[in-house]
Order: sequence, then structure tokens, then C-alpha cells
Amino acid sequence: MKNVSKVPIWFMRQAGRYLPEYMKIRSKNSDFLQLCFNPELASEISLQPIKRFDLDFIILFSDILVIPHALGQNVDFLKNHGPSLNSINSKNDINYMDFNKCLRKISNIFETIKILHAKKGNKNLIGFCGGPFTVLNYMIEGGTSKTHSKIKKFVKDNKNEASDLMKIITELSIEYLKKQIESGANYIQIFESWAGLLERDEYIDFIVKPNQQISEEIKEFSKDTKIIHFPRGSRKDYKIFAEEVKCDVLSLDLTYPKELPSILREKGITVQGNLDPQELLNDGERVEEKTKEVLDKFKKNNHIFNLSHGILPKTKISNIEKVIKVVRDYETSK
Ligand code: CP3
Repeated sequence: MKNVSKVPIWFMRQAGRYLPEYMKIRSKNSDFLQLCFNPELASEISLQPIKRFDLDFIILFSDILVIPHALGQNVDFLKNHGPSLNSINSKNDINYMDFNKCLRKISNIFETIKILHAKKGNKNLIGFCGGPFTVLNYMIEGGTSKTHSKIKKFVKDNKNEASDLMKIITELSIEYLKKQIESGANYIQIFESWAGLLERDEYIDFIVKPNQQISEEIKEFSKDTKIIHFPRGSRKDYKIFAEEVKCDVLSLDLTYPKELPSILREKGITVQGNLDPQELLNDGERVEEKTKEVLDKFKKNNHIFNLSHGILPKTKISNIEKVIKVVRDYETSK
């Protein structure tokens, strides 16, 4: 008999603006961060996509920018503009001396996870943080940037200061993840969304080493917690990342090198990804075809179906339903 296995599925940004039930809560809560710090509402939002689509993973509703907030930076989410932070130049501009105090500022998030843990049933529960360099990028740029000129200059001209800040962000993120695990997360994902900005030498220092430190310390703390890494935009450096950083799951975007899936298979690393979220804006049968393509591409790997980046606000719910149906009907034999 064939050993048939199903491909589990969730979507990055599965809770968010494409869902009317999210917009209903959001319209009554204009302060996005305060919404993240409201355990009752944040847990309800985390469960909205599960109730609607019966996905296999719940992801905590929060944001990667709670870490700069915990460090005393001003973080605002402006309507139609994205995040806005008072940009900093040095570790003297933040409060990093007492991590417990920093974590107390965001401790409501752990309450959200406890609620989700109590309600999770047979689903997996994902906690998360930003990759240290991605968080540093927002702290230095002061928000979303097209050119990333400030962070690139900062890393080149102020390498020592940049390393000091990276150390603080990395160590605080590790403590933050440990508390998420203690509260009930059985998976954690590290969103290194801006891994693609750096040259090779900088990639090793600012992407590989900090992510490696997170993995090592988290595995030492809790060997059963599964770690998902997402070094978005790494292109050929995805291979170095997979070689150097312990991961249970590697999330792939559209830039990964062709030979990567077979390397991951040999290393026993699960592939996550990688349908282009732009595809979910189209009409017609293309969504089904593209979903099937992704399933076929990774059929020899252990695979968690996902996108190559987060769901876009204009995504049609009917397209999400189409993707899920194709994945649920697909059987692989390993
Ligand atoms: O995936 C999920 O459903 C869990 C929740 C989650 C959010 N942000 C909620 C959110 C997660 C995992 C994130 C991660 C995040 N946040 C990243 C890494 C992933 C990526 O997209 O690259 C980054 C870079 C951020 C920072 C951030 N937060 C930006 C740049 C923005 C504005 C752009 C945008 O997409 O709106 C946010 C806001 C944000 N985070 C929203 C949500 C649901 C929209 C807020 C709103 O309701 O107005």
C-alpha cells in the first residue's frame, strides 16, 4: 500500500485586511499596536482564518515591531502608510539595560498565546519575531524604505554601533521567543524579510550569525520546538543559510536557487512556501494551476504549503479557498 501523506497549509499574514471580520475589529481599534496588546481581540483575530478556512497552523496576531517598542522606540502605524518609528542612530537612543522591563511592556502578547494554546485543539501554534537585521532596518530607517540607504550606510560607516545594536536585538528576541514557547507556541518563525539587502560578507555577520544564535539558543532551551526560518530575498545565499543555520523548516520565496530543494531533502529540512501572493489577485483557473505547480515542485520534499510572502490586502477570499481545495485534494506518496 502507498504511504500517503497530506501537505499541511497556512498563509503568512493569514489574519489581516483581506478578511471582513478582521476589518470589523480593526475599524473599531485605530491603534494597531494596542490591538496587538489586547489578548482577547488578538486571540480572536488569530483564530479568524482558522475558523473560516480550517488551516493547519495558527499564527499569533502581533507584529515584528513590538521589539523596537519594547526597547522604548516610538512605533506608530499610520493609515495607508505603514509603520513609523522615531529613527535612532545609536544604542544610547534606546533602553536596553533591563530586558525584563522591556518584556514587561509587551507581556500581554504572552497572555494572547496562552488563550490560543487553550483553544488550539490539534492545530500548531506559531509564535514569531523579526530577524534581528530586519528589525534593525526598521529602527534605523524609521519605517518602510524603498532605497534602504540609511541602513546600508549605517552598516558600512558604523559597523561597531550596528553590531552592538544587533547584539541587543538578538538577545532580546531570544528571551521574547522563550516566553512565547513557555506560553504555548510549539513552532516559532523568524521573519528576516530584508535578508536580501546585504553583500556576502555582511550577509554572514548580519544574517547568518544572528539567526544561527537564535536557533542554537532556542533549541538548547526547548529541543521540541520547531524553528522556521525565512531569510527572504537571500537568492544564492539561501544555500549558505541552510548550511550554517539549524532549521527545521526553511521558508522559500521566489529567489531561491534551483538546487536548494534537494539539499534540504538531504538535510531533513522541511520546505515551506512558495506561491507568489500576486497570483491570488488574478481571476480564473490560473490560481489552481499555480498551486498545483508548487505542490509538484516540492513533492519529493517534506512540504508545508505557504506563499512566498504575505497575503496582500486586495486578495480575494475565493482564491484562498481555491488554493486550499487544491492542497487538500493533493496526495503525495513518500
Ligand atoms: O501572519 C500573520 O497573520 C501574523 C501577524 C503578522 C503581522 N505582521 C500583522 C500585521 C506578522 C507575522 C507580521 C510580520 C511583519 N510585520 C513583517 C515580516 C513579514 C513581512 O511582511 O515581510 C514585517 C516586515 C512587519 C512590519 C509591518 N507591519 C509593516 C511593514 C506593516 C505595514 C505594511 C502592511 O502590510 O500593512 C505592518 C502592519 C501589519 N502587520 C498589518 C498586519 C495585519 C496591517 C495593519 C493594519 O491592519 O492596518
